[in-house]
Amino acid sequence: MEILIAQDLEAISTEAARMFMNLSEKYIQASGRFVVALSGGTTPKRLYQILASVQYQKNIDWSNVHIFFVDERFVPLDHPDSNFGLIHETLLQGISLPTENIHPINTCCSSPAVSAKNYEVDIENFFEIDAKHIFPQFDLIVLGIGEDGHTASLFPGSRVLSDKERLAVAVQSRKRQHRRITLTLPVLNSARNIVFLVSGKRKASIMKKVLMLRVKSLPASLINPDHGKYLFLTDKAASTYILNNSAMNITK
Ligand code: 6PG
Repeated sequence: MEILIAQDLEAISTEAARMFMNLSEKYIQASGRFVVALSGGTTPKRLYQILASVQYQKNIDWSNVHIFFVDERFVPLDHPDSNFGLIHETLLQGISLPTENIHPINTCCSSPAVSAKNYEVDIENFFEIDAKHIFPQFDLIVLGIGEDGHTASLFPGSRVLSDKERLAVAVQSRKRQHRRITLTLPVLNSARNIVFLVSGKRKASIMKKVLMLRVKSLPASLINPDHGKYLFLTDKAASTYILNNSAMNITK
């Protein structure tokens, strides 16, 4: 695991955009496509805006980029709380990505469980997975952390944390306004690259619990890619407690 501490959210987002661009070149050259899964939340918004800016529009071969979604609220895709809506507004509408390269979690079905099952089939078809216990390898997954230690829509104490078979599952949480659909831990941990974007002082305490104390009950602590690379891209405010820890692989 690597930790890169940048000045602020703008610096994190610029660094993440550069990383996105470099990885896109690498994977498109190697396999003809770059397959990513993106999160919602407020932190990655600026990254998505930067990726939609003229410089990145020109320098990324968007025709070979495929965008999946880490999680989704069970709301229509044009609902203000939809991750698809957020990513569409900040990124997709600004770039020329072929429609078939966008892989939303379809929420028009009867329940989140059906939605999750359908998404699983979409992923299996795309990655040509035809057996159980084989997980897709996304080239890049962008994640965030909630103040309670959740990541994607994997919340502390949730039963789905122990799921070792499914690719996408429905999540019900009494504390949350909407039911959700999320990629599972085995899918996240099969990624070739994972980047966590974490910003602001309200995240300092959870960063300490996840990075220094490795509190096992926190979903974010369970992210540990089987073979892939794993980077925390964070700012000074969120890193107060870890800044001076010499045992960690920190770049400032
Ligand atoms: C979502 C996410 C979720 C998010 C964290 C952090 O759709 O809300 O996938 O896991 O990444 O809650 O959110 P912030 O970036 O808003 O702090």
